[in-house]
Amino acid sequence: MTTLLRNIGELVTNDPSRGDRYGIVSNAAIEFDEGVVLWAGTDSEARERPEYDRGIDCEGRAVIPGFVDSHTHLVFAGDRSHEFEARMAGTAYSAGGIATTVSATRAASDDQLRALLAERVTEARAQGTTTIEIKTGYGLTVEHEERLARIAREFTDHVTFLGAHVVPAEFVGREDEYVELVEGPMLDAVAPKVSAVDVFCEDGAFTVDQCRRILQAARARGLRTHIHAAQLGTSDSVRMALEKGVASVDHGTYLTDDDVAALAGSDAVLTLLPGADFSTRQPYPDARRLLDAGVTVALATNCNPGSSFTQSMAFCIAIAVREMGMTPREALWSATMGGALSLGDTRIGKLAVGSRAHLVELDAPNHIHLAYRPGMNLVRTVWA
Ligand code: NIG
Repeated sequence: MTTLLRNIGELVTNDPSRGDRYGIVSNAAIEFDEGVVLWAGTDSEARERPEYDRGIDCEGRAVIPGFVDSHTHLVFAGDRSHEFEARMAGTAYSAGGIATTVSATRAASDDQLRALLAERVTEARAQGTTTIEIKTGYGLTVEHEERLARIAREFTDHVTFLGAHVVPAEFVGREDEYVELVEGPMLDAVAPKVSAVDVFCEDGAFTVDQCRRILQAARARGLRTHIHAAQLGTSDSVRMALEKGVASVDHGTYLTDDDVAALAGSDAVLTLLPGADFSTRQPYPDARRLLDAGVTVALATNCNPGSSFTQSMAFCIAIAVREMGMTPREALWSATMGGALSLGDTRIGKLAVGSRAHLVELDAPNHIHLAYRPGMNLVRTVWA
């Protein structure tokens, strides 16, 4: 059934063939069918379109590409709100809290995890997210990581294996043995269900050498790779990850000038996660510095129970604009096209002819309202 949205106040296409990379059309219309964009243009051009099956008047509201949330840890059980409360009173975030969620997740049944995940994915959709990446990482045994990958795969095509999230209690003192498990039997078990592999390279998690081994093993299987790097401090992690050809470096709260130059000279995306900096009381990274250096920047929620429990991409956009030096259009591009580049999916994050018809109609005349009205869910309709 062909659908034509008409009388759109502002259509953000991210289609560079429209003049710049944002491809914003005022007084616009867009047509789609079977989940694919067929045509986009001005509302007056739409009058010359052939017959369509369904016409919808957007009454001057804005339409944007659905958000691409390219970094979440959505499959977990348990609650860590008291950790958040302690942080707000001055306690520092540490990777050690992950163990609390590992215990709760291992104890939950498949049906409990499935129900929790379904609820979170529904919440994300209601906030305008039409593509979501989900990481494993709260199982940390072959059996539990395979289980989390299997359940996550019921909800998204973009499942990422994060066996190297933290060394589980039963392997403390035998860290290298755990790395051997991750790069061998665990990766074997999850590989059919995942499209990418991630590693948490930080004090209290995994060393640069350990992460290098796991990224190499992932690449040898043809999987995409990502890294959690420079979240809590500086290290050689960014340089190592770029040498290993990662698709994205995520967090980047503490980047040296050399890191920024290396990122700018690479094909990798730097995924900023402002929800984590908010919730762990860390400094916000300077996105302006990155953009001006030529780094490709994505924005994602990092939804997880420890460092960032939100599925709101609009919240991340608002922080990026208010605190990190991005313009509203840069932030929206990063939350859509940036995420698509991180996931390597060329049919999402934009509304060009042939793209997936993942559209969000806002209760607002333009995209600026996403940052201008923080804390509001401006999503009126989601088509996906
Ligand atoms: O990206 N850094 C590692 N993983 C998450 C935090 C997970 C947790 O604390 O449970 C993050 O911030």
